[in-house]
Amino acid sequence: MCWIFAYNWKGNSIPLLIDWLRNLEYRGYDSAWVFWVNTSWKFYLEKSIWKVSNLASKVDHSNSKNTIYTNWIAHTRWATHGKVTLENTHPHTSNNDRFYIVHNGIIENYVELKEELSKKYSFYSETDSEVIAKLVDDLYDWDIKNTLERLIKKLIWAYAIVLIDKEHPDTMVWAKLGSPMIVWLWKDGVFLSSDINAINNVADEFTILEDNETVIVENGKYNVYSLWEIINKQTEKIADDFEIADKWDFETFTEKEIHEVPNVLINALKGRINFENKTITNETLEELNTYDIDSIEIIASGSSYFAGVVWWGWFKELAGIKTEIKISSEFLYEKFLPSTSTLYIFISQSGETADVRESLKMVQQKWCLTFWIVNVVWSTIARMADMWLYSHSWIEVWVASTKNIVWQLAVLLLIAISMWNKRDLQNFEAKHLIEKIWELPNLFKEQLKNKEHYKSLAKKYSKYDNFFYLWRNLMYGTAAECSLKLKELSYLHAECYSTWELKHWPLALITPDFPCIAINPKWKLRDKTISNIKEIWARNWTILWVITQGDTLIDIYDDIIEIPDSHELLNPFLPLIPLWIFSVEIAKELGKDIDKPQNLAKSVTVE
Ligand code: M6R
Repeated sequence: MCWIFAYNWKGNSIPLLIDWLRNLEYRGYDSAWVFWVNTSWKFYLEKSIWKVSNLASKVDHSNSKNTIYTNWIAHTRWATHGKVTLENTHPHTSNNDRFYIVHNGIIENYVELKEELSKKYSFYSETDSEVIAKLVDDLYDWDIKNTLERLIKKLIWAYAIVLIDKEHPDTMVWAKLGSPMIVWLWKDGVFLSSDINAINNVADEFTILEDNETVIVENGKYNVYSLWEIINKQTEKIADDFEIADKWDFETFTEKEIHEVPNVLINALKGRINFENKTITNETLEELNTYDIDSIEIIASGSSYFAGVVWWGWFKELAGIKTEIKISSEFLYEKFLPSTSTLYIFISQSGETADVRESLKMVQQKWCLTFWIVNVVWSTIARMADMWLYSHSWIEVWVASTKNIVWQLAVLLLIAISMWNKRDLQNFEAKHLIEKIWELPNLFKEQLKNKEHYKSLAKKYSKYDNFFYLWRNLMYGTAAECSLKLKELSYLHAECYSTWELKHWPLALITPDFPCIAINPKWKLRDKTISNIKEIWARNWTILWVITQGDTLIDIYDDIIEIPDSHELLNPFLPLIPLWIFSVEIAKELGKDIDKPQNLAKSVTVE
């Protein structure tokens, strides 16, 4: 998604701007630009579409030491309104070329605004953002603060805006609603970023801006305003273990993140389980059990949604609590029937996903009990709910979410066990399950050693264009997540169906060129599922079975992936690593950019 990085500083900053853009390329974007204006009224702008490397080859790196304060801005655009063209790339300007604006977010009422402003001003781009520049010009009353105040009253969000008036090149103005924004001091400059990960290396502490706050920056100093009064903001310390994205010796970040899974799981469980006496020891979960909850709703999107689907399966199977799982973008606009005996759980890796954030706000406004599970500390969602559990799974950088799901599942499982414990899960059953959870990291390590097998399968299967991922009951979330990953990384078509549903219509698609990945570990419905798969086999479909190690009942297949024998409830964890690596390797066979899938962004901050 779009990302803004801006500062008011005396340093020579073009190389710094480009480095920053490179650091944050993972977010997904399709054009980039850098801009500076200094107090001697000099300015410089360079834009480029597609890769930051295109921009880097164009910019003049030679501007020497600055001795005066200069406003520096870098921005990547992820196209929402208007194609990927230089005209649509920011910054956008007023007709008199005086006001320059940068915008993250979407201005929902831009059509009406544009219609009105078109009577006085000409437009050159297809973007919603350009109306902001024209509107600033229209509203300008010789006081930039007043102008900003009147501007934001007219905009139907969401936005993070940086505004520069070329007549006052010593000043920069920032405003935010919905989109994240943080500010910090470093050396003798003031810095702003719309992504917390940008602060690595260059800050000891920082300030998080809240909605409706604005900032005026001038000569290395800044003031934050709320309702037009200067306010004192609290600063946050950067944690000692704040991590810088590094892919170690791996070919791609995605593979590095998959290889982190065993440690991520250990981290998610550490301090939350007492492995000696096999009990859950977590204050938040204990507190959760003091509430009288008769139903649960889980709200998330993408892979986080599929983690929720697995949990829904666990709960449905065992807990006797009515549980629903909702895609956040739908939940937000369905009729909401608030219930004070429902626990609303929000799951998000980034903690910034717009429709999850807005759903959480909506639920809180009705005074309902909320709980989040988030990875990024200080993210917007992480500062909102009543109760929470962090994953502690370190920075997940690249677009395809992998290790994140494993910690989400681990945390969800802990919630489940703790709630079942309160109800009717027998102590010995809980202890047995906890024992088995603790074995998972080693099982994952073993799976990672089988990479060559998954790779050879990928070589064979990369010749197909269509795939079926088949599941029963508890394996739904896992199958859906694995098929998502194949689509996301290789752009191949994959469907995901319950094996029982096949006879109702999907069998019509049958051809030997439509391979079937049948996820069927040992558990109570294994035998019935085998019968379903045999119906496919009889029709010459190609079958890749995912089965429990040594399962001799399964006698028909083209290929197999064996997963370890564990507790039945833990089966949803076990196909993930093999099928993720399978997808990565197929994508490599097809020459795709694993870390930067086309058209996608890491954190979806606009609705
Ligand atoms: O940060 P979140 O967990 O809220 O993100 C949700 C989805 O955008 C995310 O899982 C997305 O679908 C991934 N690209 C899937 O690999």
